[in-house]
Order: sequence, then structure tokens, then C-alpha cells
Amino acid sequence: MSDTSIRFDDGAAYEHYMGVWSQLVGDRFLDWLQPSTQQRWVDVGCGNGAFTDLLMRRCAPASVLGVDPSPQQLAFAQTRFPGGTARFQQGDAMALPLPDQSVDHAVMALVIFFVPEPSRGVAEMARVVQPGGRASAYGWDLMGGGFPWAAMQAGLPSVGRSPILPPSPHAANLDLLPALWQEAGFVDVQTQVLTVQRSFSSFEDYWRIALMGPSVQASLASLEAHEMEVLKRAVHGQFDNAQGPVTVTARAHAVTGRKPQSSQ
Ligand SMILES: C[S@@+](CC[C@H](N)C(=O)[O-])C[C@H]1O[C@@H](n2cnc3c(N)ncnc32)[C@H](O)[C@@H]1O
Repeated sequence: MSDTSIRFDDGAAYEHYMGVWSQLVGDRFLDWLQPSTQQRWVDVGCGNGAFTDLLMRRCAPASVLGVDPSPQQLAFAQTRFPGGTARFQQGDAMALPLPDQSVDHAVMALVIFFVPEPSRGVAEMARVVQPGGRASAYGWDLMGGGFPWAAMQAGLPSVGRSPILPPSPHAANLDLLPALWQEAGFVDVQTQVLTVQRSFSSFEDYWRIALMGPSVQASLASLEAHEMEVLKRAVHGQFDNAQGPVTVTARAHAVTGRKPQSSQ
């Protein structure tokens, strides 16, 4: 049986495929969130450090610990911060390698749908955040057509393939996110829709980068060359067979909540 899971094992390829998107939407997220400076952060599912980089540049944190299960992504993340200003550790969202109440802000950037049991991941954020601290997240509107590479996914049936989804594809739905936060005990829960655009110099540029995606690679494993041509034409058709630059719009959902003081 072929392996159809989404693997994050190439930090450099991730940077082209999703890191650029991550920083586009991460900027919008931080504009909305307006976090305080000098906070102790944990960046859960930090991957190759794309969002960690924004935290370091925009939020003047007291400390940042990035946690991710992928050693390859973590190795790339380390190269962004040669001075060791952000630290990274291998780990899982559902069992964070942190003591109780040890950070001010826990964040998941484009991660919640990869967590097999999202409620356990959010409960872990609630455990490690100190009273009065916050947990926040954003994820693509995967089920509502907001994924940046939705055109690629829409082309897959032309070659008899289906998009490969992460383990919890509904977790970033706008009606589910607040419930996850409230069930974990957070209060003052707020949500926001974040819309971003990315331009590619041509369809060829879009196609070259689209093929780097871990979910795409899992979907396309074992396709013949002529099937790849069929797929390419089907995806090109999504852009009205554009000859010039290609602009793609993507949409994410964000959530934030505060951990109450114990007396509340
Ligand atoms: C789409 S990437 C997001 C990476 C980064 N946060 C960003 O904004 O670019 C999803 C990340 O979730 C990680 N991941 C998958 N399962 C996870 C889990 N159970 N706990 C924590 N992270 C997980 C993957 O290794 C991957 O790096």
C-alpha cells in the first residue's frame, strides 16, 4: 500500500511552497492579534521557523521555543537564528515538552489541522500558558476553499487522484475553532478571517512551486509523465489559461483566547 500521509521532511522546499504564504498570513494575524512585547512564547508546530521569524522580528519576545516533530524542519529553522535567539525542540502538540504555566503565549501557525486530536493540542496549550496568558492559532480554511493551493487540488481528479488531507481537516473551520478554545477553558475568545494574496511571475512559476508541496507530492506519487501533463493543463485551466502573472488569494481563520486567573 502506498504511503499517503503528508510529510514535512524538506525545510527549503517548504519555504518556497508554504513559508512565503505562512509569512503573508502571519503578518495579517499579528496585525490583528497585537500581542504585547517581552512575552515568553511557544510556537507549536513551528516547522521551518517561518512564523517564528515573524515573532522575532515583530514582537520583541522575551523568549521563543519552537516545537515540531520534524527534525528536517527544525534543522532549517535553526539556520534562521544562528545566534540561538530562538530555541527549537522536537516534540508533539499533544504532549508539549514544557512545564505547566511556563509561557505567556502559545501559538499554532497553520498547524491545528495536522494535530490528530486538536482538543488535546489546545488543552496542552492551556496547560503550559500561565494564568492571564493567551493561546492563539490560525489555519487555512481548508474545507471552504481557502487553501492557497486549492487550484492544484481541484485539478487532481483529472488524473484520478484526490487531495490528501491532514488528519483533522475541519479543525480550522470558523464554527469549530471557538468551541475548541472554550472547551479548553479559555475566555474572551475571538476569531478573525484573514485573506492574503500571493503573485507568481507566470503559471510556470506557480507550477514549479506547487510541485514542491508535501501534500501534492503524496498525491502525485507514481503518476506517469503524460498524466502530469494532463494535470498541468487542468490546473492551468483554473486560471483561465493565464499567459501572464498569476495571483492567488487564500483565506485563513484565526482564534485567540485568554486563560483566566485562577480566581475567575
Ligand atoms: C503547515 S506546517 C506549519 C509550519 C509553521 N508553523 C509555519 O507557519 O510555516 C505544519 C507543521 O505542523 C507540524 N506538525 C505535524 N503534526 C504535528 C503535531 N502532532 N504536533 C506538532 N506539530 C505537528 C509539521 O511537522 C509541520 O512543520
